[in-house]
Amino acid sequence: MTHATLNLNGKSYELPVLVGTEGEVGIDISDLRAKTGAITLDNGYANTGSCTSAITFIDGEQGILRYRGYPIEELAEKASFEEVSYLLIWGHLPNAQELAEFRHRVTYHSLLHEAMKKLFEDFPITAHPMAVLSAMVASLSAYYNREDEEPDLNIARLIAKTNTIAAFCYKKSIGQPFVYPRNDLSYTQNFLHMMFAVPAEPYKISPVLDRALNLLLILHADHEQNCSTSSVRMVGSSRTNLFAAISAGVCALWGPLHGGANQEVLQMLKAIRDDGGDYRKYVNLAKDKNSGFRLMGFGHRVYKNFDPRARILKKAADAVLQEMKVADPLLDIAKNLEEVALHDEFFIERKLYPNVDFYSGIIYRAMGIPTEMFTVMFALGRLPGWIAQWREMKDDPKTRINRPRQIYTGATTRSYLPMEQRTASTEPAMLQERELVLV
Ligand code: SDX
Repeated sequence: MTHATLNLNGKSYELPVLVGTEGEVGIDISDLRAKTGAITLDNGYANTGSCTSAITFIDGEQGILRYRGYPIEELAEKASFEEVSYLLIWGHLPNAQELAEFRHRVTYHSLLHEAMKKLFEDFPITAHPMAVLSAMVASLSAYYNREDEEPDLNIARLIAKTNTIAAFCYKKSIGQPFVYPRNDLSYTQNFLHMMFAVPAEPYKISPVLDRALNLLLILHADHEQNCSTSSVRMVGSSRTNLFAAISAGVCALWGPLHGGANQEVLQMLKAIRDDGGDYRKYVNLAKDKNSGFRLMGFGHRVYKNFDPRARILKKAADAVLQEMKVADPLLDIAKNLEEVALHDEFFIERKLYPNVDFYSGIIYRAMGIPTEMFTVMFALGRLPGWIAQWREMKDDPKTRINRPRQIYTGATTRSYLPMEQRTASTEPAMLQERELVLV
């Protein structure tokens, strides 16, 4: 299959076809407008590839997720988050020396410039941590902007300092003093130390929490061209700096339909608990189009089968709660909700399965991480994926500044109306979306 034929206005056009390493077929429309004068329209880009990429592969029908060819199940079970970060960014699992050098770099760049602490103070204590995180990540460009440095140094700085910024966001939200990173701890151990240690007494890092955090960060590390990753690529395509592009990803992830869903899932489960635990009522509410209610943590643009990450997290939630001797009624509600939804025609017909956000919040909660911090945790995990995708975009000679087209549906040309001729009726009629004329 080397080309597709398009018939338009009585003329035939041949469009090149490319096939990916996993057999995905793409019709290349890079010169469609030059050839035909027409563009395509694909609201939400559900059918549009924005790039070629060698980083992550998802098969939504089979529930497959691989980072650089390695199945997520194997990486979740055997790898460290540092190894997975290195794999995503530089394309291969690091050998012992490469991993040691990467770890050393990330460890010794974990301090923030002392002046950045002042930025935290200027946020109200009620500020959502994602507002603080996005501002702090963008602010790193004010401190690290030398052109003569090797590009991978800022990648290490960003990974190292985002860990510290995330923990500082939490400490700020509870009015506790910042706890500085330690050089004798791993990335995940340092995060737990900075989050939960207090000056008054020594903090013992729980291996259970450390393992759970490592798993959660790996499962969130990358996911093809999702909304936030596409935002990083879009912003990065203007050749702005790494910190600015990643800050755009943080802002996109914040939305409740994307990374903000994990926070919404917990709030939904609490609402069901506080409403007497009648989860069937909420399944029925989600099926009522007029309710405006969705079962948060369900559904996915790509997965039309189980999200493999949700499957892993469901098992991990049980294990973490057991090991921590925590019984959480919200987990029982989540499992009952899933059971009912997966047997309900509405969900089956729309292939709405639990996604990564459905169980992750249960584990974060068991770890003592507050709901408002859940999306920060998602961002911390997704960071190496965003960086890998930004780097691939930056180094790809085919990359051009992203500038989509549109189909204009507004008013056709008209003359300026003097004030005395303007009546209420002239504007709305003219500005209502005109019927799209289908030829
Ligand atoms: C993430 O893209 C990624 O890879 C994202 C992510 C990543 O790792 O980066 O996987 C992380 O963002 C996971 C998704 C987290 N969001 C949620 O859990 C929010 C709840 N889910 C949705 O709102 C929705 O399912 C989306 C946003 C995830 C997907 O939206 P789509 O693909 O645009 O699907 P849609 O909104 O067009 O829904 C299709 C149908 C509709 O019904 P009909 O109009 O066909 O009758 O399914 C219904 C929707 O009403 N539907 C739901 C539903 N999700 C979709 N109905 C009830 N509850 C839901 N959760």
